[in-house]
Amino acid sequence: MEKTILTGIKPTGQIHVGNYVGAIKPALELAKVPEYEAAYFIADYHGLTKIHDAKEFRQLSYGIAATWLALGLDPEKVIFYRQSDVPEIFELNWILGCFSSKGLMNRAHAYKAIVDQNKSQERDVDYGVNMGLFNYPILMTADILMFKTDVVPVGKDQIQHVEIARDIAESFNKNYGETFVLPEYKIQEDTAVLPGLDGRKMSKSYNNTIPLFVEEKKLQKLINKIKTDSLPPEASKDPDASVLFMIYKEFATPLEVEKMKEQFVSGIGWGDVKRELFHVMNRYLEQPREKYNELMAAPEKLDEILKVGAETARSISSQFLKEIKQKIGIQ
Ligand code: TRP
Repeated sequence: MEKTILTGIKPTGQIHVGNYVGAIKPALELAKVPEYEAAYFIADYHGLTKIHDAKEFRQLSYGIAATWLALGLDPEKVIFYRQSDVPEIFELNWILGCFSSKGLMNRAHAYKAIVDQNKSQERDVDYGVNMGLFNYPILMTADILMFKTDVVPVGKDQIQHVEIARDIAESFNKNYGETFVLPEYKIQEDTAVLPGLDGRKMSKSYNNTIPLFVEEKKLQKLINKIKTDSLPPEASKDPDASVLFMIYKEFATPLEVEKMKEQFVSGIGWGDVKRELFHVMNRYLEQPREKYNELMAAPEKLDEILKVGAETARSISSQFLKEIKQKIGIQ
């Protein structure tokens, strides 16, 4: 039988090269595996825990949708939808909340990190915490369980959330009998954690990212900003210690990578490496960027595609929610 593979991205920032290499690219590859039925969605209501400006929120949500499509997600093969278009998820969210201990939520790392920060700054422990943020893992559990998900491809920071989903599913199943599939997470061990402009992990919170679809000139500018050491051009360099090389590897052909390695060893100036990096990145991103810009200029097209996906999703979720409600004694 086919396995369901599901993942979501929340619209809280512009997609950057690190997101692409670490999450989107591997997810798109998994969607092509014949034994998987993929469901990929925009976790917009998760984004609402953070983004409280309507215009920005709308743009960010469309941005995620356009990114997936521009990079080759085929909505004929992948169930591709916006979380907020599937109301059954939110009904399930409430039901599952009644099977989630508050203590479990207290231990969820995103919430705990804020509490710890508040403590260290001697503020009220719950300063800046809205209930959406606190309940975040329950909604994510509803996302996952609603579609009987077997496999959730995520980054390491999301492992705990998938474990929480298993815990909640188990406590429901224990009470009403086998209902929910226990999901497993899938970490792409072989995907790179890309460094950002300053050499630390590329991350919005470090403000060191290269947005995936910046225009050419800006891309060149950002690449020029990438930190290098002060070795002279003729000095032999270690490719594996170079941020430029790590990014280069993701966008160049295997042959180009080999050549670049040799040039590092025999001596190449950083300016030349940067020029080459721009060349391969731009070559790779040119077409998706164009498609992205086209889609962003025609949001009604995105709405149309997402609407079809939501219909497919709802044909599954409404049926399953009925069963669940029968089990708990509502219908
Ligand atoms: N919490 C995930 C993140 O921040 C996004 C997300 C929401 C998600 N619901 C999900 C991921 C369900 C996988 C499955 O990256």
